Amino acid sequence: MEILSGDKPASIEKALKILRRGDIVAFPTETVYGLGADALNPYAVAKIFEVKKRPRFDPLIVHIGDRRWLSAFAGHVPAEVVRLTDRFWPGPLTVILPKKPVIPDIVTAGLATVGIRMPSHPVALSLIKALKNPIAAPSANPFGYMSPTKARHVAKMLEDRLPLILDGGDSVFGIESTIISYRDNQVYIHRHGAITVEELEEVVGPVSEKKDDGTCESPGELPFHYAPARPLKIIASADEIGNSNASFLAFRKPAGGPAVRYIRVLSPGGDLREAAANFFSYLIELDRHDVDVIYAEKIPEQGIGKAMMERLRKASKKYHSGGGT
Ligand code: TXA
Ligand code: MG
Repeated sequence: MEILSGDKPASIEKALKILRRGDIVAFPTETVYGLGADALNPYAVAKIFEVKKRPRFDPLIVHIGDRRWLSAFAGHVPAEVVRLTDRFWPGPLTVILPKKPVIPDIVTAGLATVGIRMPSHPVALSLIKALKNPIAAPSANPFGYMSPTKARHVAKMLEDRLPLILDGGDSVFGIESTIISYRDNQVYIHRHGAITVEELEEVVGPVSEKKDDGTCESPGELPFHYAPARPLKIIASADEIGNSNASFLAFRKPAGGPAVRYIRVLSPGGDLREAAANFFSYLIELDRHDVDVIYAEKIPEQGIGKAMMERLRKASKKYHSGGGT
């Protein structure tokens, strides 16, 4: 497996050859790294599921290189969705729309809808444009694990299971895209992410949260997801740390020195964007075999803080139920 700098034309050329022969490459996006295949080649897409060990019932996001491609892959696009894509594309917003038959069923796990986004990372865009086809890509982590925000995370997590990783530096958002759908004159949030509720509401007015009612309309919304291997416990402050053989993911700089083995501070000054950019990277660092538990300090649930808390809750549910994916 090779890691090549994504800003060199020769690297894009090499990635292109791999995609054209129906194989997969990892590539950077502004949210997290993706594991990509030609979205119109069902055999190539099948490899993503194998490499990720991902269940076939979990649909993939289709990444397009130009907003004008949308009409080729999605059916009716409601005016509100057009306003959202006008505002946030290229960028970390995924819209769920009726799918056109050209998208293979394996991409959408048999659903009649497809999740589409146009990423803003220049390496992702040049790769998609060079392929002239959309790229289907989940986050480049093994199923159920945390998303990689650096090329070296991908290399470590997927080892020799793929031929090439394009390195595009650290993902600037560090949190996956926000996923929305539109139904009954209403925008629904399926997954909190890098575009905040507040930002969406500036464009389309009030949006609704999809209820976590256990139905599997979007199986990636399974309650256990984004989980470290070590158990994770959410605490209100460092005072609640009860086991010193632990790691601690602090939101702000803690007062005093909590007695734990490892500590990472997401944002010493409490800036949510900075915290998000460090979020998965620090959790990955703290997920060590020599600790019993990872404590995570509660993050204010505003802006991108919602997306981080959504992920922490899912990770801690795995701990409490003993289950997992
Ligand atoms: O930022 C991101 O979105 C990253 C980068 C690589 O683009 N991708 C990503 O993909 O997070 P993944 O596969 O890890 O998460 C995609 C989520 C899953 O929870 C999946 O269930 C949901 O999107 N999804 C995809 N298509 C859907 C559809 N048609 N209906 C409902 N949910 C869908
Ligand atoms: Mg993922």
